[in-house]
Amino acid sequence: MTKVTLADLQDRKARGGKLTMLTAYDYPMAKLIDEAGVDIVLVGDSLGMVVLGYESTTPVTMEEMLHHAKAARRGVKRALLIGDMPFLSFRSSAVEAVKHAARFVQEAGCEAVKVEWKQGIEDTAKAMIDAGIPVMGHVGLTPQTAAAEGGFGLRGKDAASAVRIIGQALALQEVGCLAMVLECIPDLVAQEITRRLRIPTIGIGSGPFCDGQVLVTNDLLGLFDRFTPTFAKRYADLSTMIRHATAAYIRDVQAGQFPGKEHTRTMAVEEFAKLKSDLGSE
Ligand code: KIV
Repeated sequence: MTKVTLADLQDRKARGGKLTMLTAYDYPMAKLIDEAGVDIVLVGDSLGMVVLGYESTTPVTMEEMLHHAKAARRGVKRALLIGDMPFLSFRSSAVEAVKHAARFVQEAGCEAVKVEWKQGIEDTAKAMIDAGIPVMGHVGLTPQTAAAEGGFGLRGKDAASAVRIIGQALALQEVGCLAMVLECIPDLVAQEITRRLRIPTIGIGSGPFCDGQVLVTNDLLGLFDRFTPTFAKRYADLSTMIRHATAAYIRDVQAGQFPGKEHTRTMAVEEFAKLKSDLGSE
């Protein structure tokens, strides 16, 4: 088990091997995906939707992110652990953003933070990087502002908007970002960005030409069934398994079949007889 480092991401791009990133929000899931060999564990603000039950990611607070990042930290030994800066934690001023990013590193033990694109974010990202906090960028569909920007569809569909996204990715690279998430952009635009950037691109809904891929683990495992993005591949159906297991437990308890002999602890017969005698005749 060799620890994944920031330098490894760059090496992987140079060598041409694909990077894998998945989300985790607690100790058991972080431990399982880390042990399975994923390169990067992201404590994403998708937390808000797939774990906390919010309608979107915007209500997620720093305190909620830190609570879950600390739990994930305890499960991750090998992968790189990245904390996602929630809405408003990096939008008011660079000074506030650095303070919040530092909490991910100092309190939760994250090795880097991720920021979604907004106008001027490159200066904020630079302030974080200058303060010694590695930063991953995120361009294309940026869920924190998607509703205000016309919804959750594909970004960069026409040449003009693709040029804008390429410019955003280059600006974030220029200030020293370590990698770039490309969300929901056409495959050839993602390929063009991947070709132009020195740092690795990690795609979600952006086709196969990125340097790596990321999915929300709850989508991959079929653990979030309010909706599944069309770009997500479901590798398991844990929701159905959980429903079946729960129904079986309820049936067993109601039928007196759980707990069985193998789940039951007993007292020596003579000791129980003594107990009865000590208790008297009631
Ligand atoms: O919040 C999240 O999980 C993310 C990934 C989907 C990239 O930002």
